[in-house]
Amino acid sequence: MLKNNGKKITISIASTAFLCLLLVLVAVQHHRVQVNGGPGEEDTGTRSLQGPDSVAADGAQGDAQVKKGFSAYFTKLTRGRREADRPAQSSVSATDAPPAEDISASDIFIAVKTTKKFHQSRLNLLLDTWISRNMQQTYIFTDGEDEELKKKIGSHAINTNCSAAHSRQALSCKMAVEYDKFIESGKKWFCHVDDDNYVNVRTLVKHLSQYPHTQDMYIGKPSLDRPIEATERLGDNKMRPVNFWFATGGAGFCVSRGLALKMSPWASGGHFMNTAEKIRLPDDCTIGYIIESVLGVPLTRSNLFHSHLENLQQVSRSEIHKQITLSYGMFENKRNIINMKGAFPVEEDPSRFKSVHCLLYPDTPWCPPQVAF
Ligand SMILES: *[C@@H]1O[C@H](CO)[C@@H](O)[C@H](O)[C@H]1NC(C)=O
Repeated sequence: MLKNNGKKITISIASTAFLCLLLVLVAVQHHRVQVNGGPGEEDTGTRSLQGPDSVAADGAQGDAQVKKGFSAYFTKLTRGRREADRPAQSSVSATDAPPAEDISASDIFIAVKTTKKFHQSRLNLLLDTWISRNMQQTYIFTDGEDEELKKKIGSHAINTNCSAAHSRQALSCKMAVEYDKFIESGKKWFCHVDDDNYVNVRTLVKHLSQYPHTQDMYIGKPSLDRPIEATERLGDNKMRPVNFWFATGGAGFCVSRGLALKMSPWASGGHFMNTAEKIRLPDDCTIGYIIESVLGVPLTRSNLFHSHLENLQQVSRSEIHKQITLSYGMFENKRNIINMKGAFPVEEDPSRFKSVHCLLYPDTPWCPPQVAF
């Protein structure tokens, strides 16, 4: 009896311990899944706002997904903070490393992805600020005709004829056109940004000149703190799990011409759409898949690219001029913007892009006469 009892207790302790372990495992698993969700957002139409993790976009899961999205957002904010706490290594190397190649802005192809309904509210701000100084290397990829836009940027306004829907297919359709136009341009670097990004082209040029464009280079900021887990659809209903890093499209990323040419069998013509279908992931993930998973070229991380999915308040006020891209957005009716005193108050310049532009190009006619901020 006694012996039996003792055994029973031991067993029950053991099973309690096992249960705890199981619970911990479940909790960890749950957390992992949560990180996968895209943020719930309403304020924007370009894919960036879907979050990199629109993996979940495939299934309509309603509320649960929105909640997951929020927790993913907070995870990203935490990570953003951690990143901001670390000294910006890449910014140091960007300024200190000797250039590997003497490139200029005209060697870069900057693709801005937008949609017709944001021509007024978002694109005009970019055209008035950073694009105005970089007309020659900037191409706008949209989904509708706009005579006003054509007057401003001519043939660099490209109607992709892709759907204006915010679907995975429509987004991949635009990325496919961006890729083809880049190859056609003969330029040395392909950089993709969204219509809520400010691009500091001077720091971009300095950063890219560290690398020969003939080498395999994929540069950007990963939006997750671990590789994305996806399923590759092979022929005959076969599936294969794949893990890879990708640079979030919402922060902007760059690919060297050398690497872009190698991507051709999976990215040119209609191939990009087929590749995206094979893994059922959005455009920026598909780029990561082709580069990391298919070609085996690792992502080179840079903290100088910023999307609205990170806490932009964490961008150091004294280092704003060193960043490559900036962004702005809304979260729960609060502005997510960089923290800077500048030429314009927040009411007049809610994105802060006009103030950033006056900081970088003080000779701009509409900037107030230079004062010390
Ligand atoms: C979109 O359609 C127009 C009209 O058919 C055509 O001229 C244009 O080249 C197309 N754009 C692309 C990127 O294929």
